[in-house]
Amino acid sequence: MIEYQEDVSLFHLKSRDFSYILQVLDEGYVVHRYFGKKIKRFSPDNKITYQDRAFSPNPTSQDRTFSLDTLALEYSSNGLGDFRTATIEVRNAKGTALDLRYQGHRIFKGKKELADLPASFGSEDQVETLEVDLYDQLTDVTVTLSYSLFEETNFLARSALIQTGQQPIQLEKALSLTLDLPHKDFTIHSLTGRYGYEKEWTQTPLTQGKYSVASIRGASSHSRTPFIALADPATTEDQGDIYSAQLVYSGNFTAFAETTAIHTSRLGIGINDEHFSWQLEAHSQFQTPEALLTFTDQGFTGLTRDNQSFARQHIARGKWAQKERPILINNWEATYFHFTEDKILELAQSAKEAGIELFVLDDGWFGKRNSDTCSLGDWVENRDKLPSGLAGLGKKINDLGLDFGLWFEPEMVSEDSDLYRAHPDWAIQISGRGHTYSREQLVLDLSKQEVCDYLIEAVSTVLESAPISYVKWDMNRNITNIPEHQANHEKHEFYHRYILGLYRVLEELNRRFPDILFESCAGGGGRNDLGMLYYMPQAWASDNTDAIGRLSIQEGTGLIFPAISVGSHVSAVPNHQTGRVTPLATRGNVAMLGNLGYELDLHALPERKLDEIAQQVETYKSIRRTVQFGDYYRLKKTDNTYAYTYVNDDKSQVVFTFVKVLSQPEAPLIQVKLKGLDAEARYYSKELGASFYGDELMNIGITIPPVQKDYYSVQYIFHKQ
Ligand code: DGJ
Repeated sequence: MIEYQEDVSLFHLKSRDFSYILQVLDEGYVVHRYFGKKIKRFSPDNKITYQDRAFSPNPTSQDRTFSLDTLALEYSSNGLGDFRTATIEVRNAKGTALDLRYQGHRIFKGKKELADLPASFGSEDQVETLEVDLYDQLTDVTVTLSYSLFEETNFLARSALIQTGQQPIQLEKALSLTLDLPHKDFTIHSLTGRYGYEKEWTQTPLTQGKYSVASIRGASSHSRTPFIALADPATTEDQGDIYSAQLVYSGNFTAFAETTAIHTSRLGIGINDEHFSWQLEAHSQFQTPEALLTFTDQGFTGLTRDNQSFARQHIARGKWAQKERPILINNWEATYFHFTEDKILELAQSAKEAGIELFVLDDGWFGKRNSDTCSLGDWVENRDKLPSGLAGLGKKINDLGLDFGLWFEPEMVSEDSDLYRAHPDWAIQISGRGHTYSREQLVLDLSKQEVCDYLIEAVSTVLESAPISYVKWDMNRNITNIPEHQANHEKHEFYHRYILGLYRVLEELNRRFPDILFESCAGGGGRNDLGMLYYMPQAWASDNTDAIGRLSIQEGTGLIFPAISVGSHVSAVPNHQTGRVTPLATRGNVAMLGNLGYELDLHALPERKLDEIAQQVETYKSIRRTVQFGDYYRLKKTDNTYAYTYVNDDKSQVVFTFVKVLSQPEAPLIQVKLKGLDAEARYYSKELGASFYGDELMNIGITIPPVQKDYYSVQYIFHKQ
């Protein structure tokens, strides 16, 4: 609910668990008054306390206590007294500052779409919007701040629309939000990492100065995620205050937290202003990506539950968003580039016998692609490998009773490709300078309309040519060698224009192929963000398929992404990335924590292993709804152990998974308390052959068998009796 108290020009945005309050001061500045645990009312007597601060400049000579440097501004510009990190910066003949003052506001049910950008969505019953117009007279610039409140799912979506009047401006920076909080006693939580080791949950105290996570790779990247949370340092899984911000965007971004001289803090998120600049002609506009804010006082369990259910309900779109996902077999680690149609059919046959539902043909089906050195861009089936073509193969796979899916890497081009030979200028490059390579490939210039148009048609042609029900959209390098284009300023527009081009392609393909299930991938989780989730409701979390390596990757990913979106495969041992040998049971139990798939040569496995896989598939089908749509809880964790439960809507099914990494001598008994159960109910587990009461399982817990084995795991499925 959004309430407006006209007498004090105050907006109170009341969510399920939080209040967000902003106020228009007499001087016209729009300031932040409160964000935190929900309060019923905000008294008109609750005034800002002003204090004279030496060296904090004042807009009027009459009042030394009033300074933009100490006010909690909703959208701030440097240059007129605020020395903290600014939200917006412009440049024109009038300087670089904006003096943004309130001009008007609107409150309405529902939420507008964001032009050309992915964004959260909801019905008029689910979301209400406040728009506040700020205006700078000297430059004739209007900034419209948009606040869309998803009351039930406990989120606030914020963005800014920047519009010019009579004068052109150069936009040097336009974050989606900054948020001023009244103290600095926080621990910062973010997701960092690298290729094969994505989304490490990183914690660091907010000390004096500034901490930022950012990307200038042209993608959100393996090593950074557009997410930042500030938590009370004493926050636990079950309690504690957390403020969290995410960006619905897939390109260069920044997310930061800084302390100020007066021990307040400022959190910000938006497009990275490094390598960013945007020419705005007179009477034109720039839309920032959307940032999502949430607050919980229920610790990381509360944050995770809110993040996951918001992403599931208000970001992921289309036919597949609310549908259970097929269990797939992908041939990548089974064959790499070296396959024949017969080999693929053999694999598909074994997959069918194991109860798998979808066959995905990965890299290597097109051009003369027998290694990663060539053919990207030549999206024509290789008849030497696939004599019946994609259409023939797809039909044969369908006849076996499996759906057929296909890998693509449309944004890329190999130098050794017909596409490059025909259009060398379509690769991103600086004329007169040699290419910079990564996996020996180049990136197509999606900032060019003709390249995007070509891509839409090229991908559509393949998708129309065969019975394809799933697409894995890969992207295996970051962007370098940004061209100057015609005008110098376009250089700094490039990264954002690339992402806008990509989003246009994805939007059009979603429109043309509404039945296809898209999975995004970027060498694993190199662009696993909410922007991509809007177009593709699942993502390949990491190329690291080792069950033990996956534990931390999936745990970090699960802080913001629901299990249904986390592609998670059982692969061969020794694992191809780590060389580790783990039991098949543990590989299955870990993969079943996400969206289950297989990525190994099933046909080459001994029969008893295939039987074990068939058993896993059957088990997953029986728990799929609970894992993909249920509530997820991280349980007691040590350096050596991980434990989780998934609980379905009516708490009638509970999936408990425990993994111990290394065996230890004389190890203490491990007791794990479950969460989220019905305390009154009695639950039976077939694996244990025993029943327990909900309150018993939650308060006493389960004792893990003291088995002396490395990489040991259990999965117990409890049913309410
Ligand atoms: C990187 C992906 O993450 C892998 O799963 C696989 O599809 C390869 N690319 C294929 O080149």
